[in-house]
Amino acid sequence: MENKFVQKCAEIEDTKQLAVKFANLVKDNGCFVNLYGEIGAGKTAFVRLVAESLGVKEKVTSPSFVILNEYHSASIPVYHFDLYRLENAGISTITEELREYSEGKKITFVEWAEFSQGELPFERIEINVTYDDDDTRIYEFESVGNKNNYVIEGLKN
Ligand SMILES: Nc1ncnc2c1ncn2[C@@H]1O[C@H](COP(=O)(O)OP(=O)(O)OP(=O)(O)O)[C@@H](O)[C@H]1O
Ligand SMILES: [Mg+2]
Repeated sequence: MENKFVQKCAEIEDTKQLAVKFANLVKDNGCFVNLYGEIGAGKTAFVRLVAESLGVKEKVTSPSFVILNEYHSASIPVYHFDLYRLENAGISTITEELREYSEGKKITFVEWAEFSQGELPFERIEINVTYDDDDTRIYEFESVGNKNNYVIEGLKN
């Protein structure tokens, strides 16, 4: 089964539609999500739009200075890590903690997980965000492991 899906979003409204679709697919079972892409690509924007679609009431901001933000106002808890400040040396210290956030009914987003250098051993969805021009962004989804393949299939419909 194809475990990848690519969506070109010409404007933020398209990204919102994609986020709503994604939220509906993960809201029952939860999901662990790594987001990749350069500064300003649209990682946090996607997390915010998914969280809003899930019913998170709080303002969703980048957790750059606290590493983790959590939201408990939706029907499923949402955790949002930003590992940028940990850099290469620190990431191994929280790999085991991240594993806990990959288990159970919760949705966990991790920005700047490239610092983990692929050492995350659990099933997840990876989202790579790239610029095209101006407001156009390309969101590439890939499921690692089989558990989340249905999310990728669902995005295609
Ligand atoms: N189609 C689009 N999809 C997503 N974001 C868009 C789009 N068009 C414009 N933007 C804007 O691009 C910016 C993306 O910023 P965002 O904070 O999400 O980046 P980031 O990838 O999280 O960067 P960082 O690495 O600094 O955390 C936002 O200001 C957002 O409004
Ligand atoms: Mg961000």
